[in-house]
Amino acid sequence: MSRSKRKWDHIRLALATGQERNAGFEDITFIHQSLPNTSLEQVKLDTKIGELSVSSPIFINAMTGGGGTRTLEINRDLAFAAKELGMAISVGSQMSALKDPAESESYRVIRTTYPDGIVIGNLGSEATIDQAKTAVDMIEANALQIHLNVVQELTMPEGDRNFCSALTRIEDIVKSLNVPIIVKEVGFGMNKEAVSRLLSIGVSAVDVGGYGGTNFAKIENNRRENAFSFFNDWGISTTVSIAEAKAAGKELSVLGSGGVQNSLDIAKAIALGADAVGVAGYFLKILMKEGVDALIEELHLIHGEITMMMTALGVRTIKELQLVPIIISGKTHHWLNERNID
Ligand code: FNR
Repeated sequence: MSRSKRKWDHIRLALATGQERNAGFEDITFIHQSLPNTSLEQVKLDTKIGELSVSSPIFINAMTGGGGTRTLEINRDLAFAAKELGMAISVGSQMSALKDPAESESYRVIRTTYPDGIVIGNLGSEATIDQAKTAVDMIEANALQIHLNVVQELTMPEGDRNFCSALTRIEDIVKSLNVPIIVKEVGFGMNKEAVSRLLSIGVSAVDVGGYGGTNFAKIENNRRENAFSFFNDWGISTTVSIAEAKAAGKELSVLGSGGVQNSLDIAKAIALGADAVGVAGYFLKILMKEGVDALIEELHLIHGEITMMMTALGVRTIKELQLVPIIISGKTHHWLNERNID
């Protein structure tokens, strides 16, 4: 199976398999505030992804690159939308362009479309220091995401089987690169202990990539008959993952992602402690089905809705939204209780 065929399969199947709604957001409720003492125009949406300042709390998460004209067009459109709103954007895994430099144009298009933007590179934890440096140079990346995707690899017959020493390789990259490293999951979530280990090697930002949205176990299982269906419902939900990551250390920048599909999910992820919120599958679906103008319209709408919710809650900044009181119920409450996480 060629890499570009696999990439196109992922896009096709991500759209066909659809986004689940199991990320835990229904367990989170805001406490209505009758005397908010705010006005719409006082609300500011700027935030930080690690040390990087961004004017939107939403970022477009890693999806694609390599694989020819179609992925180049998708990346160009995603970058165009990100630029319209001043959002950060991650590229898909750059490993294919490291193996075949002819593919790098489909990643570089994000930088050329969005020259002043916060553009984030992406590689797996198998990457070497040199590969990480080349990936950053390729797109003049402001940060590099290292993805952890053990369950996805195991579900692919051609995937990796050896996950030893990932932490050591990530540490080498953290120490050798002069851009921030964001370690991310791809839809299976992260627990506090894993995040603590990342913190101990100098990682300053994690993207929890929680369970409940795009499901790579199902996507891979749909690509073949001999399915590893026991992984279909595997993972830590996004709401739990954000709380687990926050519990690992207050100094850590936590990015919430996995199954985010509307402004309320975004506001709830921030109220759980996320500094910014990543969206992949939902934005891809709008782009592929309705086009880039529809995606931009949706992004403006989401910004407007978050502003309204912040006004109603009596908060003016993303930092204040991170501190609003919330009620946590259901499975999320049960999990956090079992794990002694406040
Ligand atoms: C992804 N994702 C991903 N992640 C990554 O780190 N490197 C990659 O190359 C890809 N490729 C990719 C392709 C497609 C088509 C999709 C939909 C997703 C994972 C993505 O960044 C995110 O972590 C998960 O999709 C969960 O978020 P959503 O989709 O539920 O918002």
